[in-house]
Amino acid sequence: MPQFTKTVLCIGAGYVGGPTMAVMSQKCPEVKFLVVDINPQRIAAWNSEELPIYEPGLMEVVRETRGRNLFFSTSVEDGIREADIIFVSVNTPTKTFGVGAGEAADLQHWEKTARQIAEVATKDTIVVEKSTLPVRTAEAMARILCANSKGLNFEVLSNPEFLAEGTAIQDLNNPDRVLIGSEQTALGLKACEAVVSLYAHWVPREKILTTNVWSSELSKLVANAFLAQRVSSINSISALCEATGANVDEVAKAIGTDSRIGPKFLKASVGFGGSCFQKDILNLVYIAQSYGLNEVASYWRQVVNMNDWQKDRFVKKMIRAMFNTLAGKRIVLLGFAFKADTGDTRESPAIRVTRLLLAEKASVVITDPEAIPNAKKEFTENELSQIEFVNDPYEACCGAHAIAVMTEWKLYRELDYQKIYQRMQKPAFLFDGRSILDPAQITEIGFYAYFIGRGENV
Ligand SMILES: NC(=O)c1ccc[n+]([C@@H]2O[C@H](COP(=O)([O-])OP(=O)(O)OC[C@H]3O[C@@H](n4cnc5c(N)ncnc54)[C@H](O)[C@@H]3O)[C@@H](O)[C@H]2O)c1
Repeated sequence: MPQFTKTVLCIGAGYVGGPTMAVMSQKCPEVKFLVVDINPQRIAAWNSEELPIYEPGLMEVVRETRGRNLFFSTSVEDGIREADIIFVSVNTPTKTFGVGAGEAADLQHWEKTARQIAEVATKDTIVVEKSTLPVRTAEAMARILCANSKGLNFEVLSNPEFLAEGTAIQDLNNPDRVLIGSEQTALGLKACEAVVSLYAHWVPREKILTTNVWSSELSKLVANAFLAQRVSSINSISALCEATGANVDEVAKAIGTDSRIGPKFLKASVGFGGSCFQKDILNLVYIAQSYGLNEVASYWRQVVNMNDWQKDRFVKKMIRAMFNTLAGKRIVLLGFAFKADTGDTRESPAIRVTRLLLAEKASVVITDPEAIPNAKKEFTENELSQIEFVNDPYEACCGAHAIAVMTEWKLYRELDYQKIYQRMQKPAFLFDGRSILDPAQITEIGFYAYFIGRGENV
């Protein structure tokens, strides 16, 4: 039996818990990493050759460390008993009921975990919030842990995760920064150092930022709010470009070369998606409101409003272009994942677009290289009866009236659009919701096409 120096437990084997612990186990071979989850199918998949999430490079890391110092199991309580450090990476979706419904974070999974740790732990433990949580959650967690403790000391830290799906392994290997918030007491700082020492195996010290707990919690929400705000900002300008004849890509380039603005996150699109941006902004909105900061709340709320408007605007363009009726028309969505290189469909713009198309009685066909299984889970039985799922994009486009690019998969940049055009009904329409295709080439083929923020010939 190998001798490990300590045991790190991660509760929640999702998009964050799995990849994060896989990379940590690779970098810290002397530490044992246990990843637990209440979902037995998920754990079984982590222990198989078909991981529960698609993430480039993840399988290679898991193959290297699984069974060596990385273990996946459903034994949450055994894990808590053994752990020196517990990362809590459970899901914290937007609340759908009661006070704060539609905005506040639903903390039921998180609180259950806190109570379980308090009940089961047998030694002093460091508890690290990895989930994105409202500011001051750590305080509540510390109260739950202390109220139930048997003379044990629990230090609660905040270590939000900044990885982006699709590039998670790259982001974990080479993070812009690691943020760790702790209480500024002797015990808090000691606990902080224990977590710093894990990351210091591969992250340069100057990139490991240590702050107080509240700054750390709030920084994660603010980071996502700023990123989403850039998308909504450029999307608002895309509408103005279409109205004025400006080209949003040219505008983005012109402003992005200003070093104060920078070029990233300035791609106009049908909108942002993913499990985090909307949820975290709404969370920020809720927190601002709860402190009576209504102007702050409505400022950030507008980022989400703009995102919804952009999706609706995209579908309205389709309706108008296709002679104000989509009834019975075969419309193919190229891509369903919320972004390329992931199978994750949570809050994908394609969901709202599909629903709006179904409301118009269109016949919707969905294709995606990784996301079809998750896409099927986004709809009701009744909706599913009106949607066709096809793996092969060429087959999906056969007989179609229109195609809409919903995800920027590399695969869709490289399709033979001439071949697709030939197989479609005429006039053939193309709506590029991700600005990945060359307008000149597409219109040359004969498509009537719409490119967000770059004008149209529909
Ligand atoms: N997905 C991202 O890109 C990303 C990035 C940064 C931060 N985050 C944050 O990280 C957190 C987790 O996100 P995710 O995408 O990994 O979610 P996820 O839904 O993929 O995974 C959460 C897992 O926690 C498990 N779980 C829930 N309650 C549990 C309990 N009581 N005991 C054991 N397991 C339990 C669920 O079964 C699920 O497998 C969220 O707060 C999210 O905001 C996500």
